[in-house]
Formats: sequence, structure tokens, C-alpha cells
Amino acid sequence: MALILMKMKPINQLPSNIREQLRRIGDFYICTQFSKDLIGDPMVKIGKDVYYRYMNFLYLPKPPESLTTEQIIEVCDLRIEYFNEIVDQKYNRQMIANIINCLSPNLISVDAPIKVLDFGCGTGLSSKLLSEYLSNLQIVGVDISEKAILECCQQDLTAFLIHPEEPLPFEDYSFDMIFAIFVMHFKLGISTLIELQRVLRTSGKFVFNIYYRDIDEVIEELQEAGFSIIEVWNDLSGVSANHRVVSCGLLPPSETVFHQANRNKSKG
Ligand SMILES: C[S@@+](CC[C@H](N)C(=O)[O-])C[C@H]1O[C@@H](n2cnc3c(N)ncnc32)[C@H](O)[C@@H]1O
Repeated sequence: MALILMKMKPINQLPSNIREQLRRIGDFYICTQFSKDLIGDPMVKIGKDVYYRYMNFLYLPKPPESLTTEQIIEVCDLRIEYFNEIVDQKYNRQMIANIINCLSPNLISVDAPIKVLDFGCGTGLSSKLLSEYLSNLQIVGVDISEKAILECCQQDLTAFLIHPEEPLPFEDYSFDMIFAIFVMHFKLGISTLIELQRVLRTSGKFVFNIYYRDIDEVIEELQEAGFSIIEVWNDLSGVSANHRVVSCGLLPPSETVFHQANRNKSKG
């Protein structure tokens, strides 16, 4: 225990030049001076309390996986309000490119449209990027934020407001693919994962990117909800090192498979 404590980095006060730019909104702080020079450490102290940097300019009082539903909606609505300043769309594009690259050996082109659920669709950026990379998609988004659904509707995207832990408004086996892009760092309840499993076709895949979370815990939750054939890709290109892509399905149980996404590229 002593050894672990010795290795832990001390948590520093947020530097005063950043602190001066902070605005408190609800339980969060936002640094509204959106300059790359004002990006603090991932964990900082503001006054006496520890805060977790989320994206570059937002500070959360708890890690994303421990936020309440109300706090998740609040922080996601802040992301929408300051979308142009804090969302690096190139990074999101890079993440989708990684996901498609990981899935590519199993992607087949079919004539019928592929029915896709964009779970946690936000403003619809993930739906739009997925449609750029994969043709013939019929995408439906869902989100717990009213603001997000309004944004999607204004862009003529099909999206529905859902309530956490409540049944999804779809029949069993409705989707060929379910994507959750930049969502799973918020912990989903087991009942939500079971709902995702219910609306996925037997041959379908639930695919997401993940960071912050303990991957073993996430795998256990997926298994508890009835998912199997879990595959995990590390070593993605152009995104932070702790980022992973996970894909899982419903066919008979098998062992989790870990991949190095850029294994061949790094040999150069
Ligand atoms: C960081 S945003 C990502 C939005 C979009 N997928 C994208 O890539 O731009 C995360 C979204 O997940 C939604 N979300 C979080 N927990 C959710 C849940 N349990 N059910 C549905 N949506 C959820 C949030 O409201 C938010 O809009």
C-alpha cells in the first residue's frame, strides 16, 4: 500500500491563470477562455476539492462514471452549449475512423439498409460521421438530454428522448448495429445494457469506444447483461493512449479477444 501511495502523483491546485478564467455552473466549472495554453492536469484541486477535467475545459466534481443522471445531462448540455469551442470534431472523426478500422474485417456490404442505433447520439455528430464512413445506414439516435434531441431534430436526424433505466422504445431485435460513441465513460446501468441486448439482432454488434473506465469491470458488466464475443482493441491511432474500442455480440459465449489496432503499422 505504501508503495502505491509513493508512486501516486500529488494532485496540484489548478494554476491561478486558469482559475481566474473559471465559471461555476451547477456542480461544474468551465474555463470559458478556450485556449490550448489553459488546459490543466486531468485531476486538479479547485480550492480544497478535487476535480476531474472532462474534455479540455470542463471540470467535474467526480469521475464521469460516478456522476448522477442529472449531472450527466447537465454536463452534456454544457458540451452542447459550448460545442464549437470544446468539441474537437477532428478527434471525433479520428475515433470513428479507428472504430471502422477495427470492425473492417467483419463489415460486409449488403443491399438492404443496415439498421443502426446511435445510443447517446448527442447533437448527432456521431450519426453524421458514421454515415460518412459506412454507406446504406438507417440511423436512429437516442439520448437522455432533451437539448440533444432538439439539436438532432433541427438537423433532420431521427432521434428520440429516452429515460435512463426505462425500456427503449423499440421492438426486440430491431438493430443490426448499436454504436455508443463517447458515451460509455458514463456508467450505464445493467438494465440499460440488457435493453441494448434486447433490441440488437442475434447476429448484430454493440460497438463503443471507452476511456477512463476499468476495462475488466466493463467486460464483467457486458457479460452480466448477456453479451458475449467481446473484442477489445488497444493501441488506436491518433487518440489518447488510454482509449479502447470494444465490440460485443449475442452469439454463444467465447473468451474476450484483445487486439493491438496498429500492430502492423508500428512495424513501419
Ligand atoms: C459526449 S456526448 C457524445 C455524443 C455523440 N455520441 C457524439 O459522439 O458526438 C455523450 C452523450 O451520451 C448521452 N448519454 C449519457 N448517458 C446516457 C444514457 N444512459 N442513455 C442515453 N444517452 C446517454 C449524453 O446525454 C450525451 O449526449
